[in-house]
Amino acid sequence: MTVARAPGKIILFGEHAVVYGQPALAVPVTQVQAAATILPAPARRAPSAPLQGDFAQDGGEGELWIEALNVGRRYQLSHAAPDDVLAAAVRLTCAHIGAPVPAGVVLSIDSTIPIASGLGSGAAVCAVVVRALTEYLGCPISNSQISNLVFQTEQILHGAPSGIDNTVIAYGQPVYFVKGQPPVPFTVAQPFRLLIGDTGLASPTKIAVGDVRAGWQKEPERYEQIFRAIGDISQQARAVIEAPQTLQVSETLRVLGDLMNRNHALLQQLDVSSAELDALVSAARDAGALGAKLSGGGRGGNMLALVTDDTEQAVRAALERAGAKEVIGTIVRPQGQV
Ligand code: PMV
Repeated sequence: MTVARAPGKIILFGEHAVVYGQPALAVPVTQVQAAATILPAPARRAPSAPLQGDFAQDGGEGELWIEALNVGRRYQLSHAAPDDVLAAAVRLTCAHIGAPVPAGVVLSIDSTIPIASGLGSGAAVCAVVVRALTEYLGCPISNSQISNLVFQTEQILHGAPSGIDNTVIAYGQPVYFVKGQPPVPFTVAQPFRLLIGDTGLASPTKIAVGDVRAGWQKEPERYEQIFRAIGDISQQARAVIEAPQTLQVSETLRVLGDLMNRNHALLQQLDVSSAELDALVSAARDAGALGAKLSGGGRGGNMLALVTDDTEQAVRAALERAGAKEVIGTIVRPQGQV
């Protein structure tokens, strides 16, 4: 049996502007995860949850079966829809390593990462497919190669993604990302605590990205000014996160929170926020968060709040009262610290 896992991710700063060449910062979120398991089909027991396809009826011998447990689907690779990203990940991976698609196996994928909400679920499920398959076939590949393969699946889902999701998920570490350039892992000098609040509204990134593009085509100068201001914030945030020893910890967090608030205001100007996101952002700030912003494509999905030990509980409660469907706490830590 082969098992591979990947974390979710959250964009700290720079979403949307990153599509236009500005830097962005993203970190893995290990509290949510995708996992892929490869088992020989005959050894596979029927799962307790009812799934659409039944490989037992077909004997399960001659083909690769994909089982997407969290969406209750099971199907043969040859029956996958043309825009099926899991099937694309399988085919791209086998083509990349020059191996035939393994037959008579079940590729079972499960994920606790909410779908279409800015936590990188699409990239994470594809990353675990790539990782599990290459390990199963005895040809493990580098994080950079995994990232490139996942990027190709992201193009099916999002059209023209920047590449930040596949990068942070494949590397599994904080990344300073500029489109088209090798990712730069950034160091976290002092841990900081975030709450991730989910509006519960699924919001396809492709639509928000397309609307920003339409706005940029209509008013290129105004949009480019906003993109540059966001890129500037990402750079300042990286400097603050990497070098807090020049400042008191509380001062570092205050500066970081202020940068989050400014980034959110710029995302509002790009019209990618929403009443639901703004309500969560305001509730978090009013309850003592040092800063808050939407994260990812926007319109729905998730927002982030920067909290401390002292404010975490009050902010969590305020987010829940303001309508958050789920609140996940995560700590961004220096590399190697658990
Ligand atoms: O919605 P997410 O978390 O997949 O993030 C999208 C980030 C964007 O900058 C809006 C798009 C991109 O491709 O970088």
